[in-house]
Amino acid sequence: MPMPPSAAPPDVLLVKSGGPASLPEWRQAFAALLPALRVHWWDDPAVPAEAVAYALVWEPVPGWLGHFPNLRIIFSSGAGVDHITSDPALPADVPIVRMASGETAQTVAEYVCLGALALLRDLPRMVAAQAARRWDSFEAARTAPDTRVGILGMGNIGTLAAGMLRGLGFQVAGWARTERHVDGIPMMAGAAALPAFLAGSDILVALLPDTAATRGLISARTLAWLPRGAGLVNAGRGSLVVMADLIAALDSGQLGGAVLDVFEPEPLPPDSPAWRHPRILATAHVAGFASRRARAGYVAGVIAGSLRGEAPAHLYQPARGY
Ligand code: GLV
Repeated sequence: MPMPPSAAPPDVLLVKSGGPASLPEWRQAFAALLPALRVHWWDDPAVPAEAVAYALVWEPVPGWLGHFPNLRIIFSSGAGVDHITSDPALPADVPIVRMASGETAQTVAEYVCLGALALLRDLPRMVAAQAARRWDSFEAARTAPDTRVGILGMGNIGTLAAGMLRGLGFQVAGWARTERHVDGIPMMAGAAALPAFLAGSDILVALLPDTAATRGLISARTLAWLPRGAGLVNAGRGSLVVMADLIAALDSGQLGGAVLDVFEPEPLPPDSPAWRHPRILATAHVAGFASRRARAGYVAGVIAGSLRGEAPAHLYQPARGY
């Protein structure tokens, strides 16, 4: 593809998400939506730095995003932006947009339902029985309508998950950093409300981002506020959880089970107790996967809007950390 002379308006989107083999699929998806946009792999040496207007990234190489004088928007390929904002050399003046494609929220919300049902019906016990070829017929302790699910983090993903869990019959409540209204879902807000919120959560679902305020939030102190035998689903960030405290809570019976998709660090090291604890179902950060077509659709919509002068939604706000 011929490159523009450097005086032409920047029209290149650099992609670092999914590996170089995914480039044809990204190109095809964007060609159908924004034919004027030229899509290149992030380290393509044929792209002049001045031609780059947008970057769509997952775990960008630190320092790299600072090389493009005409960069207008950085898109996270996922809902979280911590994999971008951890770069100390990030250009401070370029907006970062979180991935908010419908499929991203849908897949995480599906995982949350999977986790809540796994805890409700004790899937770890079923999996262990199958591994041991043991006919372990047992009754569920309760049904969804008898079970209170508390969701920490009520953005677009938490709100969708709340509705889906309610559809399964669970009693659902939400907690957010600041006051907000969510139709049909009782809400609590702020640190002061956390003890009461956790005390009313038979299953706690963590969907919070990694920020200075959320790191280590799920610790011995807060786990003690849950009802005895409660369950935990973490599809937010691994940094929310103090793993040693979580294991101790499972061993003491304070926590009945945990479904964990995110860890710190990732990949989860082979010697982590989370791999082999009988009350943990551990998955490899698989909760949120949107198709490239869906993510390209979201990015193309934001680019088209910004070219019309519209401010993007789902912008990273440095002051709140996500
Ligand atoms: C995945 O964790 C994401 O940020 O979408």
